[in-house]
Amino acid sequence: MMRLQRFLAHAGVASRRVAEEFILAGRVTVDGKVVRTLGTSVAESANVTVDGRPVTLQNAWTYLVIHKPYGVMTTLHDPEGRRTIAELLPPGKRLYPVGRLDYDTAGLLLVTDDGPLTHLLTHPSFGVEKTYRVVVRGRLDPLRVTELRAGLQLEDGRTAPAQVRIVAANREQSIIDLTIHEGKNRQVRRMLEHIERPVIALTRLRFGPLSLGDLPVGATRQLFGRELVALKRMLALASEEAGVDDAHD
Ligand code: URA
Repeated sequence: MMRLQRFLAHAGVASRRVAEEFILAGRVTVDGKVVRTLGTSVAESANVTVDGRPVTLQNAWTYLVIHKPYGVMTTLHDPEGRRTIAELLPPGKRLYPVGRLDYDTAGLLLVTDDGPLTHLLTHPSFGVEKTYRVVVRGRLDPLRVTELRAGLQLEDGRTAPAQVRIVAANREQSIIDLTIHEGKNRQVRRMLEHIERPVIALTRLRFGPLSLGDLPVGATRQLFGRELVALKRMLALASEEAGVDDAHD
């Protein structure tokens, strides 16, 4: 049993607060009856609707954010015996990474059993915005920052304009937050190599609407409520841009 607003948040209908508004507005039914009371407990198998549309927890996809450590492959099995993200995942579910972080990159990785989502978010026509905290060797001067922002000519094509925020800089090293929406292979490292500022450490802080926050290295967090709603909103956008049917309705 769980409270109705929690049920709705877990099912990804809305954040708990917005779910409460839905309940108070008489938009939610449980086993055929309108429920307007916030404390109502419902069984996980209850027949719940919002605006007449069924909402279930069963068959709901799982979405996890992992804080991937350095020195871990973004695969479930490595023929060379290196550590993989499989050791960080809860047992019993077939979960797959959405996109990839390099072996020597840490940070936010979305993992799910939602095949259509993985397909949509890795579709070349939809670039999810990603922010990386990058530590580079040497001072990043304004000219180099301008180059990064404008886009650079790499061997496999020009990079799109990027957002750059300088977090700290001295002669030895600089720290920046770099936001890009493409996914070329080792893109961040190659962009910084191109301006002669090799990467010392790379951590992904943000993936679309999802933030790493204070999730400890190696830990996982299940998405529900506000974050899940934001993810689904991004999916609706992705499916529109990719011109494919959203399998999430
Ligand atoms: N850019 C990189 O260079 N490596 C990553 O892992 C992600 C983005």
